[in-house]
Amino acid sequence: MSKIFAANWKLFKTPDETRTYLSKFITNSNLFIKNEIVFFPTAICIEAVSNCLKASAIKWGAQNSCAKNEGAFTGENSAATVKSLGGSYILIGHSERRAIFNESDELLAQKVEAVQALGLTPMFCIGETLQEREAGSTESILKKQLEMGLSKVDKLKPLVVAYEPVWAIGTGKVATAAQVAETHTWVRELLNKMDLKTTPILYGGSVKPENAAELLAQANVSGFLVGGASLDVESFLKICTH
Ligand code: PGA
Repeated sequence: MSKIFAANWKLFKTPDETRTYLSKFITNSNLFIKNEIVFFPTAICIEAVSNCLKASAIKWGAQNSCAKNEGAFTGENSAATVKSLGGSYILIGHSERRAIFNESDELLAQKVEAVQALGLTPMFCIGETLQEREAGSTESILKKQLEMGLSKVDKLKPLVVAYEPVWAIGTGKVATAAQVAETHTWVRELLNKMDLKTTPILYGGSVKPENAAELLAQANVSGFLVGGASLDVESFLKICTH
């Protein structure tokens, strides 16, 4: 079955570095023809990505967007602009947006609604902190994030969910295969109850070429959202060929 492999470049890469990376990546794209690949560059590199990927089937999107398409919102970027440049996705609710930029569940719900209204696909991130996992509240946290963040979702339009335990992001501390299987199965059941039966669930958090096969083999894992390992073209290519 086709998988989704998404690269979250966070605040890395200049436009020149982006072009060099993507030209090498595209040269090897025959290796993963069956999978959907998505790049999330910084907003400043979006035009470089759009130009590089114009003639390919590789998709791209923005790491964040304003809930409004235009207006007096200094420093923001709009999903409408992403659409005008040929983007397909917007990452919404990454744990760094939630924790560092204080994005609330209510704001994220507005973003999901705005992105879907434009015909783009939200890649909606959820995940618990280490403290929350150790306190046994993983399920209640994920339930709140999903029910509130997706309160305005259009169930008939495309949506992707990415489960990223916060303690596994950028730490090298990957969730065990058993933890991934258990949590993904629980999220699948909740999404089914929410009438989102076909929504793919990606795993994210210290995914590397070395652990990709084992994690991908777990129940209800439809692909990955990759940070650090996606910055190196060779290592992301290895992940995408699964
Ligand atoms: P990581 O990041 O792969 O570097 O852990 C994942 C993410 O933040 O999306």
